[in-house]
Amino acid sequence: MDRPEKSQELELEIKTLAFGGRGVARVDGFVFFVEGAVPGDRVRAVVTKAKPSYAEARTLEVLRPSSARIAPACRHFGICGGCSWQTLDYTVQLEHKQSQVDDCLSRIGGLSGYETDAPLGATSLWRYRNKVEFTFAPGKGGVELGFHLPGQWRQVVDIEDCLLHSELTNHIRNRVRELARESGLGAYGQDSGGGYWRHLVLREAGTGEVMVNLVTGAGEFPRPAEFAATLTAEFPQIASLVWSVNDTRASVATGFPFRVLAGRDHIREEICGLQLRVSPSSFLQTNTAMAARLYQKALDYAAPRGGELVFDLYSGIGSIALLFARHTAAVLGVEIVAEATRQAVMNAEINSLDNARFVTGKVRRVLKELPVPRRPDLVILDPPRAGASRKEIQRIVELSPPRIVYVSCNASTMAANAAQLAADGYRLLRVGAVDMFPHTPHIEVVALLERFPE
Ligand SMILES: C[S@@+](CC[C@H](N)C(=O)[O-])C[C@H]1O[C@@H](n2cnc3c(N)ncnc32)[C@H](O)[C@@H]1O
Repeated sequence: MDRPEKSQELELEIKTLAFGGRGVARVDGFVFFVEGAVPGDRVRAVVTKAKPSYAEARTLEVLRPSSARIAPACRHFGICGGCSWQTLDYTVQLEHKQSQVDDCLSRIGGLSGYETDAPLGATSLWRYRNKVEFTFAPGKGGVELGFHLPGQWRQVVDIEDCLLHSELTNHIRNRVRELARESGLGAYGQDSGGGYWRHLVLREAGTGEVMVNLVTGAGEFPRPAEFAATLTAEFPQIASLVWSVNDTRASVATGFPFRVLAGRDHIREEICGLQLRVSPSSFLQTNTAMAARLYQKALDYAAPRGGELVFDLYSGIGSIALLFARHTAAVLGVEIVAEATRQAVMNAEINSLDNARFVTGKVRRVLKELPVPRRPDLVILDPPRAGASRKEIQRIVELSPPRIVYVSCNASTMAANAAQLAADGYRLLRVGAVDMFPHTPHIEVVALLERFPE
């Protein structure tokens, strides 16, 4: 076919899903990435971007639905841009997630010969998120509160009921919007730089405790005692109500100093029997029930015997390190954010674990400078989406641990890191996917590597 033009409409047969979640169609070898389409669909689509070797398109009409297509559950579907796979049967979602993991490991990592465990499906398909971040925007009623439209940082979809988080936190969000409207202060406008209300971040722990984090522009909070009393009387589950100011133009909700308006500066979470303090800036896996499964899988893969020295790299508030501290002789956590390390130390105390130590710093630097009494028996790494840098992997190789457990939220960067480890004497033994994010293309992966020959 000739190269398609932007705005051209055409009929496409969707064959598979691309990394990132869009449907893939091929016409005479030319590839289309189609939003809103699932494998098996025949759709009428409009080209939104045309490049020499591929085009992007958006579904206008499903001409023949795939047998795996189901009705969307969410009233905001198609507008909000989240949960893009909710029109795909969950079993098929899991199959695609697994094949994307396999594909990354073989295509990016050039890896084979490892054992693959069946993917662990999520225990709840909806209302599984423990943290959601909303943006205020000027609009009808003066203030709207919801999610950014995909790719449009100025526009917000007003949300009534998001099925990713609980009914309770949906009620809290809707009440906060009413209170913001009643305050008479407008929402912050990304264009004007004026207005007051900016973000609302809600967290709900498995213990039932809720944290409400309001982010505003510069200026005093309007009648804070009254606001806090109203909200906490209506929602006694709120154990922490905090306020922070973002007086920059950047549309970010976290990382600012905060003031407690009611309750504590943290909420209490419980994962795998560990008590964890979670503060506004803490990183925590966003699906509490599946985080427990993920950590248990990491522990199963590591199969500690009890006497090991373990390094937990990218340790956050210490969740994995503390779980391993219960089963091994000693654990050292390494984390770049000082506040997270401080919380990890507190979490060790709360759980009466005196064999876990935490160091603040970049993995690369800490591993270079730390006087290590002996070689770790096991290294666990759980880096951010970008994966570990080549230098960081090099440092791990220099430590020469007999076993490595890699926890990842991005199979493509994990595959690249695993390839480097394989080139430096490690063998990938076992891989298991854990689904923390139903109806999205994301998947968490645990991998076990062993130094070869052992
Ligand atoms: C995916 S989180 C994992 C946290 C923890 N393992 C957990 O499950 O809660 C990644 C963590 O790595 C930290 N981080 C990012 N880059 C780092 C680096 N170069 N060195 C050390 N820590 C880093 C982040 O602050 C974050 O806490």
